[in-house]
Amino acid sequence: MTFPDKPTIAIIGLGYVGLPLGLQFARKGVSVIGLDIDQSKVDWILEGKSYIHHIPTDHVRLPVEAGILTASTDFSKVSECDAVIICVPTPLGKNREPDISYIIKTGESFAPFLRSGTLVVLESTTYPGTTDEELLSVLEKGSGLKAGKDFHLAFSPEREDPGNPDSKVAKIPKVVGGLTPACLEMAVALYSKAVEKVVPVSSCRAAEATKLLENIFRSVNIALVNELKVVYDAMGIDVWEVINAAKTKPFGYMPFYPGPGLGGHCIPIDPFYLTWKAREFGQSTRFIELAGEVNTSMPAYVIQRLTLALNDAKKSLNGSRVLVLGLAYKANVDDMRESPTFILLDSLEALKVEVDYYDPYIPVVTPTREHAHWTGKKSIVWTKEVIERYDAVLISTAHSNVDYQELLDWASLVVDTRNATSGLQSKARIYKA
Ligand SMILES: NC(=O)c1ccc[n+]([C@@H]2O[C@H](COP(=O)([O-])OP(=O)(O)OC[C@H]3O[C@@H](n4cnc5c(N)ncnc54)[C@H](O)[C@@H]3O)[C@@H](O)[C@H]2O)c1
Repeated sequence: MTFPDKPTIAIIGLGYVGLPLGLQFARKGVSVIGLDIDQSKVDWILEGKSYIHHIPTDHVRLPVEAGILTASTDFSKVSECDAVIICVPTPLGKNREPDISYIIKTGESFAPFLRSGTLVVLESTTYPGTTDEELLSVLEKGSGLKAGKDFHLAFSPEREDPGNPDSKVAKIPKVVGGLTPACLEMAVALYSKAVEKVVPVSSCRAAEATKLLENIFRSVNIALVNELKVVYDAMGIDVWEVINAAKTKPFGYMPFYPGPGLGGHCIPIDPFYLTWKAREFGQSTRFIELAGEVNTSMPAYVIQRLTLALNDAKKSLNGSRVLVLGLAYKANVDDMRESPTFILLDSLEALKVEVDYYDPYIPVVTPTREHAHWTGKKSIVWTKEVIERYDAVLISTAHSNVDYQELLDWASLVVDTRNATSGLQSKARIYKA
């Protein structure tokens, strides 16, 4: 069985993962139909425009004009495709349990249009067993076809690094696991068209577990430096100086950096997919739980540092004016999902602080599920007159297009969770947090 030379593929879920992946396939001459339930994303693509800050509009316009990329909300288009790649969200539910309902709904929507011989690949991060148990059963039920016999099924985790200009989909090796050896062969053939290196593993579960290992590794290591930040600070040692020195070691060390807490769609969420699944096997995941505990305690630590900093200036939090810098969860992106800045804003508001934010990537807060009351709040304007009105400025996310020297020239008190002010001249008092 061989994969067609000139395939047509569907990418379902045109978000931070699906859009760049689709563009990469299109760049390599694969015809791509982007499918989403969000009509506005479909419209943007059809108009040849990008809706993700770090993806230039030309990257969408050119393949659309060339007729190699199109988009639709009509899932029956799957019947025209040789492969279907699913990139829909996998959040946590209210009680921090995995919510794979987006995967299930997606499977139910396109299964009736699945034709014999098609390859289906799940890319959404999830617990081992999602592909060969849950997705398999939805697709078989909806299509009347048999996985591994009539259609192919595989899992391949996404490794998108938004905001990193050196991160190119084509250059990042792609791990792939198939339901059967033939499924794996088809999936390797598909991804080999778009990326330079494909890494086959023995099963869908091994591929699902690989992605979780990668994200748990980050969560645990970030927790470690967050804990050391607090301990070293009590000893009068700057953890940033220590990390910068440690990373000169050419082997056996990899730097991770502290911050005000975890954010984004992956690191705060994915480890708990494994925690939940491990219980089914009578296993506990103590590292994951501990890392979660340390990381989620960081906003409270930062508020404590801010309180002490204001106290030194003979001020209390209550009634102070505080500017929080950076709403996005990481530097140089416009993505505010799970951003710890929201926790800081909520906590400061509860402590009767007059709080504002500045983020050059997020001029106004769009609706979020958990922090809905900030919807419509606008970023302040970056001028000397505005900045000097605040009793303190708290750097939560350090975008590189912010002028930190200007900040130090204009502000009187700065609490820095990202070491953004390191090496700069300052009349302002700076506290690391
Ligand atoms: N963003 C990242 O950096 C990143 C990195 C690695 C892995 N992932 C994983 O990739 C998956 C997708 O993440 P994302 O950041 O692209 O999410 P996203 O929210 O940016 O995009 C998801 C898209 O899926 C669409 N969608 C939702 N339900 C749908 C349905 N039933 N049918 C069709 N489309 C539907 C949404 O409208 C949205 O456009 C998640 O599992 C995530 O954990 C994300």
